Amino acid sequence: MSSTQQQPVQVQTMPLHKQYEEAGDSYLTTNVLDLFSLKGRVIAITGGAQGIGLALAFACAEAGAKVAAIDAKAEPHKDFLILEKQCTQLGMYQSDVAEVS
Ligand SMILES: NC(=O)c1ccc[n+]([C@@H]2O[C@H](COP(=O)([O-])OP(=O)(O)OC[C@H]3O[C@@H](n4cnc5c(N)ncnc54)[C@H](O)[C@@H]3O)[C@@H](O)[C@H]2O)c1
Repeated sequence: MSSTQQQPVQVQTMPLHKQYEEAGDSYLTTNVLDLFSLKGRVIAITGGAQGIGLALAFACAEAGAKVAAIDAKAEPHKDFLILEKQCTQLGMYQSDVAEVS
């Protein structure tokens, strides 16, 4: 084989039971909801006044985050009022994120 030819890639595959051994017993001690928790986090969502951004704001708030919704619009969708009732740590900030200043 010449030096310009690529060597075949050696893929090391560990048997699944070995992978579980290496990972320890975290699957016994870890709560999946804790892994998805956003408690103590602040999430800034651009386009958060409506649509996908607002839906994401609901999801992040449900997962325990403080949510900062940023949008070019001054007034969010009416459903934002529902989110305000569910999430006490919620802020709506008007800003056009495409503007560089
Ligand atoms: N809805 C869908 O099924 C879908 C599918 C694929 C991709 N997308 C894309 O995802 C994005 C969001 O979709 P959507 O349905 O929530 O749209 P939407 O129009 O309902 O909401 C977008 C929000 O972003 C805000 N926004 C736009 N430009 C901004 C800026 N420069 N600074 C701050 N806020 C700004 C708007 O004011 C609006 O409130 C869009 O780019 C859309 O094209 C949507």
